[in-house]
Amino acid sequence: MGGGRRKTETRLIHPDAHASRDFEAVPTPIYRASTVFFDSLAEAFDHGEDHYRYGVNGTPTTRELELRMAGIEGAAGCILAPSGLAAIALTYIACCRPGDHALLPASAYAPNSRIARFLADFGIDVQIYDPCIGAGIESLVTDRTRLIWCESPGSISMEVQDIPAICKIAARHDILVAVDNSYAAGLLFNPLTHGADLSVHALTKYPGGHGDVLMGCINARSDRMAKKMRDTARLLGICVSPDDAALVLRGLPSMAMRIAHVERQALDLARWMRDQPCVEKVLHPAFPDCPGHEIWKRDFSGSAGIFSVIFLDWSRAQVEAFVDSLELFRIGYSWGGPVSLAMAYRGLDRPTPEKGARLVRFSVGFEDVEDLRADLARAIERASG
Ligand SMILES: Cc1ncc(COP(=O)(O)O)c(C=O)c1O
Repeated sequence: MGGGRRKTETRLIHPDAHASRDFEAVPTPIYRASTVFFDSLAEAFDHGEDHYRYGVNGTPTTRELELRMAGIEGAAGCILAPSGLAAIALTYIACCRPGDHALLPASAYAPNSRIARFLADFGIDVQIYDPCIGAGIESLVTDRTRLIWCESPGSISMEVQDIPAICKIAARHDILVAVDNSYAAGLLFNPLTHGADLSVHALTKYPGGHGDVLMGCINARSDRMAKKMRDTARLLGICVSPDDAALVLRGLPSMAMRIAHVERQALDLARWMRDQPCVEKVLHPAFPDCPGHEIWKRDFSGSAGIFSVIFLDWSRAQVEAFVDSLELFRIGYSWGGPVSLAMAYRGLDRPTPEKGARLVRFSVGFEDVEDLRADLARAIERASG
C-alpha cells in the first residue's frame, strides 16, 4: 500500500509493507479473525460454501483441522464445535424437530442424556435403550424415530455396541445414526464405513491429547449431511478459536503413537487389577467378559487408554478412600491426556446401581507403568486397611 504521505496513526493500521507470506513450516499458521477482507463487493456478496466470509465461517486454521479430521474417517465434511458436548448438542439441533423420537444408549456420556431430558421441553422424545440391544433396536423404532445415537464402548461401563447391525436397521427405516466415536478417535474404529451418518468426536480427548483444550467435531458421511451440520453451526454461531484449533492440530501427528502407548499401559494395568483379590471385575473391551467383546474383536483394530474396575465388596467409603489415596493418578474428569486420571461416580447406575457404587474409571496417561502399578497397589493397601 503506498502510504508514504499518510500519518503514523494510519500507517499503524495500514502499513507500508508486509512480510512475505511465502513461508512453510511444521505448524499450521494461526489465522485469527472476526473480520475478513474482500477485494470487491462482488467477492463480499459471494455466498459460496468455501468462501471465507467472517470468522464464524472459519479461517484457514480451523478449516485445516476440519480437513484433517474428515481425512481420518474419510468423511465428506467435518464441522468443529467448541467442545465434544457442543458437537452432541449441535447434532440434536440439526437432526431433530418437535415430534421426533430419538434413541440413546444407557451407556452414553451422561451429559448427552441431560440434553435428552432438556429436549423433552421442545417436544423431542429421547428414549434410552440397552447398549447391547444390537439388531433388536428395530423393536424400539417408531414412525417418528429420526435419530439413533451410539457410543462404543461406553466410556465408563465399556459396553461395545453392534453398530453395523444398528446401522442396517436404521437404513431400512431411513433413520440417521450418530456415533460418539471419541474412544476410537477415528483410528480404532470408523463408524462411517459401517453406514453411520455422523461420527461425533470430543477432540478434547485423544486428538488434543494434552489436557489443555476443549473441542468437538462432527464428521459427516455425505455431502448433504455435512452441509446440514455446517449450515446449522453457522446459523447458531457455533465456531472455535483458531488458537484452540492449532492446539488440536499440534496433537494430531502424535495421536496414533499416543493411543498405541496408552493401549499397552492400560492393558498392563487392567490385567494387574484383574488379579487383585479386592477386584470383582475389570471392564475393558479387550477382556472376554466385557459386554460386546466379540464385537470389539470383529470391528475394532485396538483399544484405548481407559478402563473401569468394579471392586468386590468394598464399601462406598473404601472406594472413595482408594481414589483419594492415589498419588500419580489424579482425580479429574475427562481422559486422553498425559496425566493418568481416576474417577468414582455418585449415583452411577451402570452396570447396576449397586456395582456402579463400587466402580472406578481410569484414564491411563504417559507416566511409567511400573510407577502407576505401584500407585494402584499403595492405594489398594490403604483402602483395604
Ligand atoms: C464419550 C464422551 N463424549 C463426549 C464428551 C464431551 O467432550 P467435551 O469434554 O469436549 O465436552 C466426553 C467428555 O468426557 C466423553 O467422555
